[in-house]
Amino acid sequence: MSIPQTQAAAQLQTDFLSASDAARLVMRTGITQVLRLMSEAIEADFMRWQDFDKSARTAAHSASGVIELMPVADAQDYAFKYVNGHPHNPQLGLPTVMAFGALADVATGMPRFVSELTLTTALRTAATSAMAAKHLARKDSRSMALIGNGSQSEFQALAFMELLDVRELRLFDIDPAASQKLLRNLQPFLAQFGASVSIAASAADAVKDADIVTTATADKTRATIIHAPLLQPGMHLNAVGGDCPGKTELAAAVLHRASVFVEYEPQTRMEGELQQMPADFAVTELWRVLQKQAPGRTSAEEITLFDSVGFALEDYSALRTMHRLARQAGLLSQIELIPSLPDPKDLFALLMQSHRAQVIQLSGRQTA
Ligand SMILES: NC(=O)c1ccc[n+]([C@@H]2O[C@H](COP(=O)([O-])OP(=O)(O)OC[C@H]3O[C@@H](n4cnc5c(N)ncnc54)[C@H](O)[C@@H]3O)[C@@H](O)[C@H]2O)c1
Repeated sequence: MSIPQTQAAAQLQTDFLSASDAARLVMRTGITQVLRLMSEAIEADFMRWQDFDKSARTAAHSASGVIELMPVADAQDYAFKYVNGHPHNPQLGLPTVMAFGALADVATGMPRFVSELTLTTALRTAATSAMAAKHLARKDSRSMALIGNGSQSEFQALAFMELLDVRELRLFDIDPAASQKLLRNLQPFLAQFGASVSIAASAADAVKDADIVTTATADKTRATIIHAPLLQPGMHLNAVGGDCPGKTELAAAVLHRASVFVEYEPQTRMEGELQQMPADFAVTELWRVLQKQAPGRTSAEEITLFDSVGFALEDYSALRTMHRLARQAGLLSQIELIPSLPDPKDLFALLMQSHRAQVIQLSGRQTA
């Protein structure tokens, strides 16, 4: 049975969300609402962890950074993200992290949605951090040190204020202008949350007496932002910046003092703070805590650590959330990514069509 041409052409349209339309969507929906929806979607998808075909991302390393491909699929949807990490990019006028990605139908392989994922990555990373902290941090956590005040930092701050009731933020960055930028960008939200923000003189000052410590620094090195003597009983650490071989933020002694939780163990062993530890160092995958197969925090004194590296499943959840919201808001455009063919076996006809169109255009110009 042949499919009518108009129906076939419609089936071949791919939805597209640009960076500026993604920004419009977030502002229209409300950033804290987007963080909440994304966090709920990520949690729901971690709850059905077994449904997904998972793998560690593939990475192409260079002296200046890394480019990674992150695929994941369930029975209906295939998702992938292209993402880089180049810590010196800001000096070249480019962000450290840039990303785009797609959702495709597993049944046919047809790409349904192509999207910017730079803004979306910051949202999904913060949503994941807050979701993990909801299960691991002490319920009475109200203060957070935020070390590394670059692109990810506003999203982290807002997610923890919205989803964990954090009400006191202490910022530190080796670049004072980055902390000033974060302070400025958070101002409009402080009254809404009844929160306060201050800039600390050092990482140690920021961490002192903090309930939660978020590290989101970028440096392609084995950095030690947090040393074990800075730890206090009951702290939760949200280590976001160490996400690639040779790039860490915590002293190994910090991991020895903490209960360590990860997204997907095979990937975190290579990329996370965990790369510093022996192969048999015990960790718990977060989905096991969510599915009540493993305990999360077991006492008010325990130190918990979420060794975040970013996993493809979070991008799957984020892509599906943004696609749904953008469709509802009428912010999707359509792109012709896949050729529309009257006979799907005659790809060559596409060239002939294009050739005929050029000839008609040319003869039109000559007679004009
Ligand atoms: N885990 C994840 O899922 C995930 C997702 C996105 C980004 N990341 C990582 O998070 C980090 C931050 O990303 P970004 O987009 O905000 O980068 P960015 O370059 O915009 O900001 C990084 C900030 O860290 C600061 N910094 C560097 N070394 C520091 C130090 N020793 N002490 C204090 N501050 C320091 C820099 O001055 C800069 O302001 C990167 O390493 C990135 O790869 C992780």
